[in-house]
Amino acid sequence: MFSTETYIRRRQQLIHNIDSKGILLFLTNKESPINFEHNCYPFRQDSSFLYYFGIKAPEIYVVLDLDSNETILFGDEASIDDIIWTGKLETLKEKAHKSGIQKTVPKKEIFDYVEKVIKQDRTVHYLPPYQAYNKILLSQLIQKPISQLQPSIPFIKAVVSQRSVKEKQEIEDIEKALAVTVEMHKLAMLATQPGMKEYEIINVMRHYAEDHGCTFAYPPIVTKHGEILHNLHSHHLLSLGDMVLNDSGCETDKGYAADLTRTYPVANKFTPVQRDIYSIVHAAIQSASSMLAPQTKFRDVHLRSVTTLMEGLKDLGIVRGNVEDAVESNAFTLFFQCGTGHMMGLDVHDMEDLGEQYVGYIDEEPKDTKTFGWKSLRLAKKLNTGNVLTVEPGIYFIPTLIDMWTAERKHAEFINYNQLEKYKDFGGIRIEDNYVITEDGYRTLGPHLFQSIDEIENYRDANLS
Ligand code: GLY
Ligand code: MN
Repeated sequence: MFSTETYIRRRQQLIHNIDSKGILLFLTNKESPINFEHNCYPFRQDSSFLYYFGIKAPEIYVVLDLDSNETILFGDEASIDDIIWTGKLETLKEKAHKSGIQKTVPKKEIFDYVEKVIKQDRTVHYLPPYQAYNKILLSQLIQKPISQLQPSIPFIKAVVSQRSVKEKQEIEDIEKALAVTVEMHKLAMLATQPGMKEYEIINVMRHYAEDHGCTFAYPPIVTKHGEILHNLHSHHLLSLGDMVLNDSGCETDKGYAADLTRTYPVANKFTPVQRDIYSIVHAAIQSASSMLAPQTKFRDVHLRSVTTLMEGLKDLGIVRGNVEDAVESNAFTLFFQCGTGHMMGLDVHDMEDLGEQYVGYIDEEPKDTKTFGWKSLRLAKKLNTGNVLTVEPGIYFIPTLIDMWTAERKHAEFINYNQLEKYKDFGGIRIEDNYVITEDGYRTLGPHLFQSIDEIENYRDANLS
């Protein structure tokens, strides 16, 4: 946990920022059974709960009263029946104390408490529930069907605005996650050999992360099929001539994430074709990240990134015509189907549970939820000092998509389908780093991880010869 003062200050700031009355209701996550009640997945606390309270216990609730400024934690202490299975652990009262909460009451009292608030015609503000059990609980508390639950927009906006600007101590923790993640990636690069299965690389990384007090912040994407954006199948055999896309990041004990991607050849050297495609993506991350600064719209960073990708593909004869027009027409979505980056913090896609519209967009410029490519852009709004985010351009040759577009001759004025056919089975490349926006620009977070072709080849040569 951070200091008690941190949590008290964050809550006071939240109350100050919300221009509304009533109560703020915070819910935690619950233990999730794998196959029966007492055999559970590792517990992960809800990130907003972690941010404002730092307590990692399941099934507790906290109410912040906006009118009286009172804070109450609803939860049950371990019974002797619990203690015989778990041992004597830190009590809930002790945890509450560390979080700066003086008043704890039994869990079941939440029902009467919320009912009383509703009867007083006061507003119960809650965040969007993403777990089924919290939807059910809210429906019971608010006495409305799940379909009529209405998360509080002022609450969401206040949390997003606060969590989007990282404190110094949060950035330090993200950099801890990155320090482990960078070493983990280097180890993965070093371990990769023809004849290995992709999951063997994941196992090497898991070992390193856990030895250093971290877990994976998300299921690692380690694949020779880098064109599959979130390829979680890691059973393929690696051969000379393949490239490995490694998108993996650690989470610290406090819950902060890192999210790095590197793509490298299984052989010690890139082939000429691999060099060509890699160089384009490398140019894209360099040109896009160089734009990062307060007041820059991330939408423009995305456009710079896809323009660089399309210029490079034009040099290879895959794209033709005017690049600006090609970008304008969305022809780039044949090669890059997602967004160039996202906020990062306590969640790898920070605050995505609160709604991409609120995290990545503003009311006046809402998210396009329909257009192919654009609907996957998680971040578009102006950046601010203290934002932490990823930049992650890529080129993805997706055979099924290429076949569809080829059959339709879609955007044929911009795409040379005969030339593209030669690259159809190439796979995909992504390069991703993490950044903090500073007052005068940006800083790349964490230790340096090889990014250029020379750096990667030299590292592999030095260690494999
Ligand atoms: N690291 C996976 C993603 O950003 O979607
Ligand atoms: Mn990412």
